[in-house]
Amino acid sequence: MAKTYKIAVLGGDGTGPEVVREGIKVLKAVAAVEGFKLDLADYDWGGERYLKTGEILPPNAIAEMKKHDAIFLGAIGHPDVKPGILEKGILLTLRFALDQYINLRPVKLFPGVETPLKNKGPADIDYVVVRENSGDAYTGSGGVMMKGTPHEVATQTAVYTRHQVDRCLKYAFDLTKKRKKKNTLALCGKTNVLTFLYDLWERAFHEMGQAKYPKIKREYYHVDATCMWMIKNPEWFDVIVTGNMFGDIITDLGAITQGGMGIAAGGNINPEGVSMFEPIGGSAPKYTGQNIINPLAAICAGQMMLETLGEEKAAARIEKAVMKVVAKDLKSLSAGKMGKSTSEVGDLVAKYSV
Ligand code: IPM
Ligand code: MN
Repeated sequence: MAKTYKIAVLGGDGTGPEVVREGIKVLKAVAAVEGFKLDLADYDWGGERYLKTGEILPPNAIAEMKKHDAIFLGAIGHPDVKPGILEKGILLTLRFALDQYINLRPVKLFPGVETPLKNKGPADIDYVVVRENSGDAYTGSGGVMMKGTPHEVATQTAVYTRHQVDRCLKYAFDLTKKRKKKNTLALCGKTNVLTFLYDLWERAFHEMGQAKYPKIKREYYHVDATCMWMIKNPEWFDVIVTGNMFGDIITDLGAITQGGMGIAAGGNINPEGVSMFEPIGGSAPKYTGQNIINPLAAICAGQMMLETLGEEKAAARIEKAVMKVVAKDLKSLSAGKMGKSTSEVGDLVAKYSV
């Protein structure tokens, strides 16, 4: 019997639903040729629903998501809702409640795609950032006192437990081993200032590496230097592992070196549970409904989803098709400048995938 995957589809805000539609088009095309089925369930969570009903997520949201094999997410963020409400209330809530402790963000430049890095090409830009996704300054630890007075105090505490650090490092070491590329894992930290937090990371990194992964080369970079080398010598990197906040920041930098937000995908992964895949670019509200946004990041998120579900052949088909489209059909990866519409790009990838 054909395998069926239950996928929760959260189009979300802005251009989210448009790019997700193209992602699903491609997923359906490869499912048909590889012989598996998709059982898709739509959820209308996002800014529009919040503005209409006042509710950010229904009370059964997490239980509902746990019934699925994976979640396919468009984008969260609405121009009429104060920043933070939907991001924390939906995106971060799902990441945390489903314990998606890895945020996997590949930085890979495909042939034919323009990069702002001078004299660098696809052979130089091909690495993965493993961003820890459950701790750091994202936990909500902190608060404000004497708000609105000249003595106002605000704190937001970066928190890591050994358990969180270890499970993330294990994932990163395993991935480095599996990639068989440069066999090098780089820890990105800030041990010269965050002497508690990244001291924990650094000790755990070397302890685990020495004991369990002696063949994997370990490197350490401060986060500021990491930014510099991602521009100057991206070919040094194979897998970079880092905390949640640094991971957030360096992956936007990485994304622009691989052609921008039109192509950058990410996976919020719980290796033992329900994972969620998304284009990392956001809701791009000004392009909503114009059929000009680039759906490739969402399509690549779908590819990561299939890879994680174990449909590696189907995933490889999508990657090959995306590479063909960017090399051959698109003038640019930017919204409105592709020389093709959103749905035409989806059609082409679907066609090349089968
Ligand atoms: C990302 C985003 C989110 C984050 C925001 C929207 C909460 O920037 O996925 O990178 O900081 O993780
Ligand atoms: Mn970000």
